[in-house]
Amino acid sequence: MQRIGVMTSGGDAPGMNAAIRAVVRKAVFHGVEVMGIRRGFNGFIEGDMALMHSGSVGGIIHRGGTVLFSARSSEFATETGRKKAWESVVRFGLQGLVAIGGDGTFHGAAAFYREYGLPVACIPATIDNDIGGTDYAIGFDTAINNVVEAIDKIKDTATSHERTFVIEVMGRSSGHIALAAGLAGGAESILVPEQPVNIDEVCSRLIRGQRRGKEHSIIVVAEGAGSALNIGQTIKEKTGFDTKVTILGHLQRGGSPTAFDRNLASTLGCLAVEILMGGEKLSMVGWLRGEPVRHDLESVLDQPRPADSAMYRLADILSM
Ligand code: F6P
Repeated sequence: MQRIGVMTSGGDAPGMNAAIRAVVRKAVFHGVEVMGIRRGFNGFIEGDMALMHSGSVGGIIHRGGTVLFSARSSEFATETGRKKAWESVVRFGLQGLVAIGGDGTFHGAAAFYREYGLPVACIPATIDNDIGGTDYAIGFDTAINNVVEAIDKIKDTATSHERTFVIEVMGRSSGHIALAAGLAGGAESILVPEQPVNIDEVCSRLIRGQRRGKEHSIIVVAEGAGSALNIGQTIKEKTGFDTKVTILGHLQRGGSPTAFDRNLASTLGCLAVEILMGGEKLSMVGWLRGEPVRHDLESVLDQPRPADSAMYRLADILSM
C-alpha cells in the first residue's frame, strides 16, 4: 500500500483533528503517503485533496472541529456522484481510505466499497455516541463535558431566581448526551427518546422538590425526546413555576477535545491505518470494554445502540 486518503464527514466532533494527526503520522511512519480529502465525500467528487505530511498535522491535537472541513454530501448518495468520486480515486492513486465520522459516513463508505472496491477503515466520531460496536465515539466525552459545564453555570442563575430550567441537548435520535450529562450535572429529570416521556411525572417531581425546599430544578431533554420549548411551556402551565428554556445547540460540538477524546482518537487513528495496511477491506475500529477493537463494518452498520437503561434508573434514583 503506497497511498491512502483520510477524510472527515458528517457533523464535526472534537477529537477529529487528533484522529487525522494519528492517521497521517502512523502512515508516514510506515512509508505510506496520505492525501487529506476536504469537505468529506464532496472532496472526493471534486478531487479536492492534497498530500499531507507530518508537519501538516502539527499543532492540531488540541483543536476542536476538523482541519479537513466536513460536509454531508447529497451528491455522493447518487450513482453519478460516486462515479465522479471513483474518477478522483484513480486520478490520485488512492489504495485505501480512512473515513472519520458517524453512521451516514459509514454507509457512504460501504456503498463505495461495494461498487468500486476501495478498501475502507472507519473511525467512529460523533458527539451522539450512537454507533454500534464501540462504547465511545470520538467527541462524545468532550460534548458531555461541554454540557455539564453549561448545566453548572445555569444552576447558578437558576438558584438565584429559584427557577426551573429545561435544557435541550443534541443527540439526534439518541439520548446518550442527555443521560450522561444529566447524571453528571445532577438533573432532576432526564428525558430521552429511549424511555417513555411522562410530563405529569416530571411536574410531580418538581412540585415534590419544591416542597422539600429545592432552590432550582434542571430538566435535561434530548432533542429526540421532544422540543424543550414545548416541554417548558407545558411545565409552566401545569406547575405555575417560573420556567426558562435553554437550547445548547452547536456549542456542544465545539471546543478543545478532552484528554480522553484525544487519546481515543490517537489510538483509533493508528489502528485504522494498521488494519488497512494489513489488507482489511471494509472495517470499523472502536473501543469496547476498555480495549481497542476492529469489526467488519457490515456487522455494525445500523446496529442500534440505545442509551443505557441502567444509567437511566440510576439518574432517576439519585435525582429524588
Ligand atoms: O450528529 C451530530 C449532530 O450534532 C446531532 O446531534 C444533531 O442533531 C445534528 O448533528 C445537527 O446537525 P447540523 O450541524 O447539520 O445542524
